[in-house]
Order: sequence, then C-alpha cells, then structure tokens
Amino acid sequence: MYFIGVDLGTSAVKLLLMEESGKIAASVSREYPLYFPHPGWSEQKPEDWWEAVVDGLKELVAGVDASRVAGISFGGQMHGLVILDENDEVIRPAILWNDGRTQKEVDYLNNEIGKDRLSAYTANIAFAGFTAPKLLWVKKNEPDNFARIKKIMLPKDYLAYKLSGCHCCDYSDASGMLLLDVKNRCWSKEMLAICDVTEAQMPQLFESYEAVGTLKPELAKEFGIPASCKIVAGAGDNAAAAVGTGTVGDGRCNISLGTSGTIFISSKDFGVDEHNALHAFAHADGHYHLMGCMLSAASCNKWWMDEIIGTKDYAAEQAKIEKLGDNHVYFLPYLMGERSPHNNPDARGTFIGMTMDTTRSDMTQAVLEGVAFAIRDSLEVAKKLGIRIERTKICGGGAKSPLWKKIIANVLNLKVDVIESEEGPGLGGAMLAAVACGAYASVEEAAEKIIRVVDTIEPEPELVEKYEGRYRKFAKIYPAVKELFGEIQ
Ligand code: XUL
Repeated sequence: MYFIGVDLGTSAVKLLLMEESGKIAASVSREYPLYFPHPGWSEQKPEDWWEAVVDGLKELVAGVDASRVAGISFGGQMHGLVILDENDEVIRPAILWNDGRTQKEVDYLNNEIGKDRLSAYTANIAFAGFTAPKLLWVKKNEPDNFARIKKIMLPKDYLAYKLSGCHCCDYSDASGMLLLDVKNRCWSKEMLAICDVTEAQMPQLFESYEAVGTLKPELAKEFGIPASCKIVAGAGDNAAAAVGTGTVGDGRCNISLGTSGTIFISSKDFGVDEHNALHAFAHADGHYHLMGCMLSAASCNKWWMDEIIGTKDYAAEQAKIEKLGDNHVYFLPYLMGERSPHNNPDARGTFIGMTMDTTRSDMTQAVLEGVAFAIRDSLEVAKKLGIRIERTKICGGGAKSPLWKKIIANVLNLKVDVIESEEGPGLGGAMLAAVACGAYASVEEAAEKIIRVVDTIEPEPELVEKYEGRYRKFAKIYPAVKELFGEIQ
C-alpha cells in the first residue's frame, strides 16, 4: 500500500508518497502566490491550493501503481480562515496565520472578554493570526461576506473537503482557531457565541488519524487512485511535523525552521502556562502539546539572502561564518511582527550593534542566531513550567543547514537529533493516513517503526557559555525598543 501526505505550506504544497514501511517513494511540490494586499496582511486563494494539489497529485502517482494508494492525509498551515457560501464556493481569499490585521479584535478579545475567560473556554488567548479574531474582523469590515458564511474551515480542510465532500477538521488544527475547548475536544459554545457563529457553520471534528470519507469517484477516475482511498483528517502542520519527526508521547521536542519557527513539546496530559505565552493545543497522537511560534524563521534568512544581499547560494554565505558565539551584531527576527512570546504584530526586524568593521557574514550570522534566540524565548517559558528538555528533533527548510543546526544546539543547549528526512508535515501526513488504514495500530507505533535518528549534534560547553551571555543581551533588546515599533509604522 501507498500513503500520500500533503504538506500545505505557505510558499508551496509538497506531496509525498510513502510506502507502508515508511520509505519515501516520491515527492513533488507546486508553488502558489502569496498576497500582501496591505502591509502586515497575508492572504492566499484556496482555489490556488486546490489547483496545485490536483496537478501535483497527478505527477506524484504518474510513475507508480496508483491503484495501491490507500490513504491521503495532510499537514496544513494553521489558523487560516477559509469561508464557504451555501454553494460551497470560497467567499474571499483565506486570511493566513501570519496576517496581522486583527489587532483591534485581539484587544477586544484579550481585554474586554478577558484573557482568563478565553483561557477557561479554549486554553489559549487571542493572537493576531488565530482564526476567531479574523471572523470578528470579517464581521466588522466585510458584513456582506460574513452574512454569506455557510461553512468555516482551515486551509488543509478545504483540500479534504474537495477530495471527499466532508466538511471536517481535526483537533490539533482546530485548537488554533480559538473556538475549540481544547481540553474537552469540542467546540466552545461561549466562543462561538462571542464570534456570532453557530455550530452548524463549523466543520465536523475528528482525530487526526481518523478517516473523514473516501475519494470522490470522479477524482478517483482522474487520478487513477481507487475510490476506496481514505481521506484522513490530518493535522496542523506543526502537529503533523511532530508526527513526522517522531515527536509523540510525553515530553518530546521538535523545532521547525520553516517560514515560521516553532518549538513543539508533546505531552500525554493537558496543561497551560500561567500567562498563555505558549499555545496549549491538541496533538495529532490523540494527546496534547505546548508550542511557541515565531512568525518568521527560515523566511528571515531567505529575505536576507534573496532580497538584501542578493544570492541564492546560502551554503556559500554560511561557509564564511567562522566565529560562532562572538558576534557583536544582534538581529530581532520580527519581520512579520511576533507571536510567541511577545504577541506583538507591530514588532519589526531590527539589526543592532554594527560597527565600521562589521562584515556581511557577521550580519548573516546575526540573522541565524536571532532566530535561534527567539526560539529560546519560548523554551524559557517551558522551563519556567518545570518542563525539562534535553534533546530535540529538527525539521523544515532551515534544518538543511548544518551551521544553523549547530547554532540551535548551542543557543538552546539541547542535543539536536537529526532524522533521515526533514519532510516533517508531509511525512507526518502520510503516517496519519497509514494509521487510519490500519497499517499501524497507533500514531506512536508508526513513529517508533518509521522514524530513525541518523545523527546527533551535541552542544559544546564553551560555545553554550558564550551563547548564554549573548542570549541574556538579546533578551534585553526587545523590551528596550518595543515602544518604538508602534510609532514607526
Ligand atoms: C503555528 C503557526 C505556523 C503555521 C505555519 O501556530 O501559525 O507555524 O502553521 O504554516
């Protein structure tokens, strides 16, 4: 049997074909546009995702016996608001996870409804990228669109709907809507009322490893895949990446260096930090996790390389970096504002500390280090909760860089376990499909049998000490410049 994992990312969709053993047989990707209609806004067209998936699926199965595809599942960019009308047509472009337009709605939710009530209803507070504030934004700014909403869903759920006809969502992704009672795994009646939507407008909830239906017969014919192929709920991309790196069960950690940067800590039990600085979400293994999310991670390096210094040869730039731990330049990686732990859509990217002898590679290094320091900010919150982490997995585009992995290991003082494939969400999606089809008894069993660590990067005590000092300085920069960010918009 084959299983397909669809990683619906922000810059592209990656589709991966997995054999029952976990071996990756093929993968393809398709890009689509990202729209920034105003500074700080971020949108994509669900129709573009669908077109890319149809096209990619055909290529993915072209060289294999497609009649052996038994299940398709997903890891999808989280929080994006997709709204459908009574004919199941998309009403407006999706408002994405890194969109910062909802500050007023976030202030209303956090200050007027109040963080305590939000946390009691959902285990989380409002952040600009979450789905509930976006619903309130559409209600206020586009009342005609709001009145037409028949179904609300998240990005990957639009794909599951197109493939199966089922309006569905899984618990891990639904957690990021601020509409789910995460602890009890059901929609929060209070939050639905606050956002003026009904349960009938919400998708049906599933565990990530449950089938929501089967492939529509007309699509089965088009792809050459059997109509018995299960469409499986899947997970938010971070939970799917955690599955794809074996970060399941209790107390395991994964760091994702994608467009966003996340630190993900799996937990058997439900838990929330005192200030809700970390997200308390359901996991795709049926349990829970805590997560810190920074809005720009590998995208900071991409911006610096592509847009500012104008090179595509990332490895050659990084090869010039020799003196880890000694840089006098610091970079705040807040190019799209920041989520965890600052919750400030007005925050901006900032270089500080340059002198006349600062070189281009000092600044490249500062970008890589700034992302690592910002992930450490979230790790510090977890430490305050008494969570002790010694090692982490790593995935995402940034994880291809040996230098960046070394910086992460030393800034966070964690052993970094490198696994065979960095295809976190796509592999996780395929594994969820395999569990739904009975190839594995549970997500944990699939992770145990499929995921193999091939290398470990150990932190080096001398470098850890140097980075400890530099992190203490980094941590002072945001509070010192914070007030300016609002003014310089
Ligand atoms: C997580 C988050 C991002 C997106 C990226 O809360 O917003 O990691 O899921 O696709």
